[in-house]
Amino acid sequence: MKFFIDSAEIAEIKELSGYGLLDGVTTNPSLIAKSGRKFKEVIAEICAIVKGPVSAEVAATDYEGMVREGEILSKIAKNVCIKLPLTMDGLKACKYFSDKGIQTNVTLCFSAAQAILAAKAGATFVSPFIGRLDDIGQDGLSLIEEICDIYSNYPEFKTEVLVASIRNPVHITQAARIGADVATIPAKVLKQLVSHPLTDKGLETFVKDWASTGQKID
Ligand code: G3P
Repeated sequence: MKFFIDSAEIAEIKELSGYGLLDGVTTNPSLIAKSGRKFKEVIAEICAIVKGPVSAEVAATDYEGMVREGEILSKIAKNVCIKLPLTMDGLKACKYFSDKGIQTNVTLCFSAAQAILAAKAGATFVSPFIGRLDDIGQDGLSLIEEICDIYSNYPEFKTEVLVASIRNPVHITQAARIGADVATIPAKVLKQLVSHPLTDKGLETFVKDWASTGQKID
């Protein structure tokens, strides 16, 4: 499973990339607004830190506008992945970029039917938002299962399932059991993955017992 970070904060992207755990980055207009930074500058900085795909979302909602903006964004760096909304115009723009060999991420996916369309449009990634489905009383992980099952029926579908809107570590472990290709994870949740009270307790004991031996590893 690939790990992307869902963030536009340079400091946290740098920190987590330093652990060697990051395969890519996703941003969206809300994360860019939260960063308070200039969009194209942030994307260029992220692309220099993380070598994998960096999703940059178009702001336009019409096909021509998406193509115009996507062309500009794709020139920022080789690893820019153009993020497009799951609309008819977004799918048309996805086909345009995928035909040109430019990576695409079709976002705001909330149904298996939409995910089939993203695959038909040649998307590199489709982003089902599981947390937002859970928020309205639906089961986000069931959607991941449904999409993975459908895609596995059709070897010609090359689109990777990128689980988005992740809220907790269980979302990640369950998505991994299902076989999702990628999880895009907020920094806070990524840090929660490592934590276990028995690990902390065990390490504390090992440190204390080792100190009692008076030895050094040289
Ligand atoms: O980047 C897309 C997605 O991960 C957004 O998540 O938390 O705003 O539902 P959230």
